[in-house]
Amino acid sequence: MTRAHFADPQPAIGERLRARLEAKLAERGIDPTAPLPDTPEPIPALEAAQERIPVDYRDAVVEHPDVAAWVRTITEAAVEPNAGGLNPHFGTAGRRRIAHGPSLLLWGDTGAGKTHQAYGAIRALTAAGCGVSWHATTAADLYADMRPRAGVDPEHMLRRIVRVPLLLLDDLGAAKGSEWTEEITFRLVNWRCQNRLPTIFTTNLPPVRDRSVPPQQPVLRDKIGDRVLSRLSGMCTPVHFTGPDRRFLRR
Ligand SMILES: Nc1ncnc2c1ncn2[C@@H]1O[C@H](COP(=O)(O)OP(=O)(O)OP(=O)(O)O)[C@@H](O)[C@H]1O
Ligand SMILES: [Mg+2]
Repeated sequence: MTRAHFADPQPAIGERLRARLEAKLAERGIDPTAPLPDTPEPIPALEAAQERIPVDYRDAVVEHPDVAAWVRTITEAAVEPNAGGLNPHFGTAGRRRIAHGPSLLLWGDTGAGKTHQAYGAIRALTAAGCGVSWHATTAADLYADMRPRAGVDPEHMLRRIVRVPLLLLDDLGAAKGSEWTEEITFRLVNWRCQNRLPTIFTTNLPPVRDRSVPPQQPVLRDKIGDRVLSRLSGMCTPVHFTGPDRRFLRR
């Protein structure tokens, strides 16, 4: 064994190179000895999503275990943009995109936190690095947007919403129903069910009547019909929300 093995380790970079690097950093106003900031880097996709989320739900985080499990399932099923393609674009892998997967039916008491958890899930998927193209609407707004008016092609609008990779359809069954609203709901749910497109539905109504439902209380099946309910039960994990109205608790 020679003495060289016990010599001081060589500096990782030479003194002249170090001086040049420090000069460059100083030119840019960077102090290499300053402690690193402990605030996390903003996630651009999440920042963009925040703009579109109603103010009340911008800090929403997933708390319900069934919603958290769903977010994990969707994240794990997200695919590389060119996965399975015959012509992979080398070097441009990009972010994974939400593909196919199960849906959620968040149902229960007014103000129990269904919409909050729905936006929490959208935020979580965005923060997980999934390329999330999403749309959120209430059923009532969807029907209002679909009313024929000048300069708007409702068919085109419906086709776009129906095909979006991740959809939140809030307050299903709350709007006054008609044959026309039933048809729109059917077309939307049918397409998303057949194509296994992840959708979060929320509703105040119990899905079906059982002994726990008072006779005068309507259920979702009464509002949307058997055929839509059948598809929802095939595609969704139902998650029941109970508890006091949090809007009253906030006062
Ligand atoms: N986990 C939570 N942490 C903090 N605030 C919450 C939470 N869940 C709900 N909230 C707040 O409570 C209020 C009611 O929640 P939310 O709108 O999600 O209820 P909801 O179940 O969708 O009600 P509705 O049936 O009337 O649509 C909102 O202001 C929301 O931001
Ligand atoms: Mg709600």
